[in-house]
Amino acid sequence: MMEYIGATGSPIEFDAVPIQPGIDFHFILGFAIDADSSGTPLNGEFKPYWADTLSPESISSLKAQHGPSVKVMASLSGWSLGGKVLRWTRPNNQSLWISNAASSLRSLIATYHLDGVDVDYENFGRGKGDIESFAFCIGELIAQLKRENSISVASIAPFHTTVAPYAALFRRYGGLVDYVNYQFYTDKVRNPVAYLAAFRLRAGQFGKEKLLPSYEVSGRGIQGDGFFDALAARILNENLVSLY
Ligand SMILES: *[C@@H]1O[C@H](CO)[C@@H](O)[C@H](O)[C@H]1NC(C)=O
Repeated sequence: MMEYIGATGSPIEFDAVPIQPGIDFHFILGFAIDADSSGTPLNGEFKPYWADTLSPESISSLKAQHGPSVKVMASLSGWSLGGKVLRWTRPNNQSLWISNAASSLRSLIATYHLDGVDVDYENFGRGKGDIESFAFCIGELIAQLKRENSISVASIAPFHTTVAPYAALFRRYGGLVDYVNYQFYTDKVRNPVAYLAAFRLRAGQFGKEKLLPSYEVSGRGIQGDGFFDALAARILNENLVSLY
């Protein structure tokens, strides 16, 4: 289970989310952004922009209360900051970007007791090398943070128009990605059958083992029981396949 939290600016608390014991539960803080407060990029220097109710103290107490099955991650980038759309473009010096990103994230990880990072760049430049550099820089960043045990978990959050850069990342560095939070609600899938078809399509792109079915509460796409019917259909379908 993964829950994006803190992105809207509303003063949300972890306590607002029910946590069932015995399942791995990841809170994903939205967002750590490589930009100053006016949205100007800082060449890999990530800063925390999630709701400040999600403080280092509240994360410590959440973890003390629930133990190791609850993990907290920071999501990188998101759509926009203060009305300015955020966009990945090729850094002038990729090694410098990776090194700045690793050191700024190391410090956020230590301050906020984080277990991992989620990658949620949602807009990309159309220049030469923009997609390639995303795959390389983000892949190397995750590799470095995992190698030095700064993080234990990494996820990525593609949606329909960003499949290409994420597929490029996944092709080269998929072994380091633990979960794929494909944003199914952006596909405007509204019923269980269509949801299942969308899940099959994305499983073909990212593999079914790491792909998590997603749901935007009171938002776009499938709502209410339809989501759970789609999950039941998937389980039924897999059981039938294994019978044959
Ligand atoms: C790029 O950054 C790296 C790491 O900081 C540095 O060693 C290297 O000299 C830089 N390359 C250029 C062309 O500036």
